[in-house]
Amino acid sequence: MDLSAAKAAPGVLAIVTADTAGPLGKGDMNTAKLLGGPAVDHYHQAIALVVAETFEQARAAAGLIRVDYARGKGRFDLDSALKTAPLKGDSSGEGSAAPPVDRVGDFDKAFAAALVTLDARYETPDQSHMMMEPHASTAAWNGDRLTLWTSNQMIAWGKGDVAKTLGIPKQNVRLISPYIGGGFGGKLFVRADAILAALGAKAAGRPVKVALQRPLMANNTTHRPATRQRIRLGAGKDGKLVAIAHESGSGDLPGGGPETAVAQTKLLYAGANRLTSMRLAVLDLPEGNAMRAPGEAPGLMALEVAMDEMAEKLGMDPVAFRIANDTQVDPEKPERKFSQRQLVQCLQMGADRFGWSRRQAKPRAVRDGRWLVGMGVASGFRNNINMKSGARVGIDAKGIVTVATDMTDIGTGSYTIIAQTAAEMMGVPLDRIHVLLGDSDFPVAAGSGGQWGANSATAGVYAACVKLREAVAQKLGFNSADVVFEDGKVRSGNRSVPLGQAAGDAGLSAEDSIEFGDLAKKVQQSTFAGHFVEVGVDAYTGEIRVRRMLAVCAAGRILNPKSARSQVIGAMTMGVGAALMEELAVDKRFGFFVNHDLASYEVPVHADIPHQEVVFLDETDPTTSPMKAKGVGELGLCGVGAAIANAIYNATGVRVREYPITLDKII
Ligand code: MOS
Repeated sequence: MDLSAAKAAPGVLAIVTADTAGPLGKGDMNTAKLLGGPAVDHYHQAIALVVAETFEQARAAAGLIRVDYARGKGRFDLDSALKTAPLKGDSSGEGSAAPPVDRVGDFDKAFAAALVTLDARYETPDQSHMMMEPHASTAAWNGDRLTLWTSNQMIAWGKGDVAKTLGIPKQNVRLISPYIGGGFGGKLFVRADAILAALGAKAAGRPVKVALQRPLMANNTTHRPATRQRIRLGAGKDGKLVAIAHESGSGDLPGGGPETAVAQTKLLYAGANRLTSMRLAVLDLPEGNAMRAPGEAPGLMALEVAMDEMAEKLGMDPVAFRIANDTQVDPEKPERKFSQRQLVQCLQMGADRFGWSRRQAKPRAVRDGRWLVGMGVASGFRNNINMKSGARVGIDAKGIVTVATDMTDIGTGSYTIIAQTAAEMMGVPLDRIHVLLGDSDFPVAAGSGGQWGANSATAGVYAACVKLREAVAQKLGFNSADVVFEDGKVRSGNRSVPLGQAAGDAGLSAEDSIEFGDLAKKVQQSTFAGHFVEVGVDAYTGEIRVRRMLAVCAAGRILNPKSARSQVIGAMTMGVGAALMEELAVDKRFGFFVNHDLASYEVPVHADIPHQEVVFLDETDPTTSPMKAKGVGELGLCGVGAAIANAIYNATGVRVREYPITLDKII
């Protein structure tokens, strides 16, 4: 690298490269190195950071850096790489840990003997998170202490990985991320913006801001890896599945993990003989990693189309076929029951409300002017994960309650449900609650990922409030068994004290966390949905328009119907993108994603989205936490793509097994 012209450029303060940065470690969560060089691992990997007085000067100087390199042979083609790829399990932090192959019973024998069988292959493409706000960080050093204002879903993971990468003690790192601007998993982990800002600030001796431009997002950060999936189903004439096999292959940089697209197939339907497996190819494309409902989202885009194909072969209604194969226990380990499983109710209520009885089983049977009209259904499934979560809650002399936790809000409504929880527990109105989030100086919470945030984080706040109530009762000498927190007062028997007065000038505070032990081993906690979609397909041009969508969800207590519904309609919208638009196109010569901006990586706009209806079943899951809630943010996406694909088939008679389903594949 020749830096001389850049160094001499106006306004340049410092240039960071792998040479000048000193030794860097690798975080636990990222696969690719966040500052490359001398070896370059993937396209758009950062190899230098130029710090200048202004943004324009920095960009101009960066363009003056001359880089010579010897081109290696890259592995960019998933299909050819999968031919020799080994089986690979998953042990990443985000998905469900899984071995490479799971067998129950004798799949081959049962499949060979089954009266009705399906053997089909499905493809899902690489997808980009493309959240509204790209990754950005501002770093400032005070001696050997680093503060990073950043955009990150998981504060404690981020703090640990920043320390590990920079080789400094964890206690010298502070991460602040009160607002995120969207994430979808793309900000679960520290990325190059944070590390480069820290290195740049150190080199320049002043605070430095690094913001990734939109066109860097697809290739510099992470994406959802493409999958190649094979599904085989075998059933008897009665429509009961006897054999289920789901094999998935994906690729990643060396040291990466597989897309766990078979995860839901282990749990969704009954069937005595089962096989699931994953293969992982080495690719030299940018890093693949978690994106909203990693595993289940692309897995259901295949499985739930296979279920539709199988129902047709059996001559069964697709809703009835799913209901006939429901299970109330883990099909691989029948001694483990689902804590709650209302998939059947979701499908039945959805069918009723959607007018499913008007659906014609025969494709191409309904016409509305030039539009071929069809209906599709899919089951939605996503595991519920619980994470240890802590909070500190305090009361001041005015009776204001302050909650502090490093929980984040990616736009999901964490501030709101945490305030609600504290208001209810402390018996004060919402406007007396002050919520502070996203700062590593606060107690470690679950963070926003894997749809574990809402239940875990509010349960941690609940635990801290229980402790604070005890402290208040004790200070007043009240009997904690009959103490009531209501209307901003603490009451016991005929005594009543305003909360602020009880706290006194010094205030009162308590910190605690919720822990989940090995509960998840004993009972299977999952969330369920029935997704219903009506599409119109232009009989002449193949243009696909989604006309109606309905999701009926069963996800434990719904903490806030408005924010939960907003998450689900957002997820349903993302499902429309996954079904019809989203695809990172791979340039197999140079190994990069070609369409790396929002002009060419297409996502739905308002005009693409019809009326969406969301219904939550009335349920509470007493096994999840004191809140009895589960997650909905990822469930809302799971199954949507397949419901759209199935509706397109019902409308046109054309079965497309490669997403996205664009009009050229219909005609
Ligand atoms: Mo999610 S992919 O755990 O943000």
